[in-house]
Amino acid sequence: MAGINWYRSSDTNKDCAVDVHVPLCSLADVQLRFLCPTDLSEVRALCQEWFPIEYPITWYKEITSSQRFYAVAAVYNQVIVGLIVAEIKPYRILNDEDAGILAKAFVKTSEVGYILSLGVSKQYRRNGIATLLLDSLINQLTTAEKNKVKAIFLHVLTTNSAAILFYEHRRFQLHKFLPYYYLINGRCKDGFTYVLYINGGGGLFTWFIEKIYRAIYWMWKPRTLRQRPEL
Ligand SMILES: CC(C)(COP(=O)(O)OP(=O)(O)OC[C@H]1O[C@@H](n2cnc3c(N)ncnc32)[C@H](O)[C@@H]1OP(=O)(O)O)[C@@H](O)C(=O)NCCC(=O)NCCS
Repeated sequence: MAGINWYRSSDTNKDCAVDVHVPLCSLADVQLRFLCPTDLSEVRALCQEWFPIEYPITWYKEITSSQRFYAVAAVYNQVIVGLIVAEIKPYRILNDEDAGILAKAFVKTSEVGYILSLGVSKQYRRNGIATLLLDSLINQLTTAEKNKVKAIFLHVLTTNSAAILFYEHRRFQLHKFLPYYYLINGRCKDGFTYVLYINGGGGLFTWFIEKIYRAIYWMWKPRTLRQRPEL
């Protein structure tokens, strides 16, 4: 989310939204696919609903058309119900506030995955859709060709307890407190940086724990999630 200018959302109907939770019959009915240019207005409307801010239109154009991003939608009944947007960056070009995620030994050659956005439509939350999207990113970044990517990180508002609980549930570690990191509707808000080490980025011990955790997670996660073909 860093480097983006935040704008006040123009969605005035937000208070009228009906907050009904829809349990999915089967997560197997949720398909994952890459975003494409025709998704722009749907994605924009969803982000306006999920976040108290608005990204510039150029950002929506980029994430729906540029291959620079790992921008994936979760689709249910032909409607986008969730999405994740991430990018890979060389570690050495990170902003000062993100330096220190990796140990010095990794500085020159390593890369990191940055989650710019992750959201699920309100009525479909707590069905494992964000888990599905995050898993697809992790699977993408833990292949042999992506071995240089040593961590996945993100920024989150300190007040966003749902997202914090979600990331902690997925073993992301709190890395840093970022006072006044966000400017939202003219007011400064604090943020956190959360990090998940992958591909041995947290050192040998973390690499070992990571392997054990992924094996256990694979065995215990619901069948529907296990059988899904990877993107
Ligand atoms: C955060 C968010 C993406 C989670 O999506 P989701 O599809 O509901 O998440 P999942 O169903 O995969 O949740 C997996 C686990 O995370 C934890 N979790 C997720 N949301 C939670 C909540 N509101 N409260 C407590 N724990 C939560 C739970 O452990 C959950 O497992 P369980 O449902 O079996 O208890 C969703 O709440 C959202 O879109 N929020 C608004 C957008 C946002 O803030 N994005 C993050 C920006 S950094």
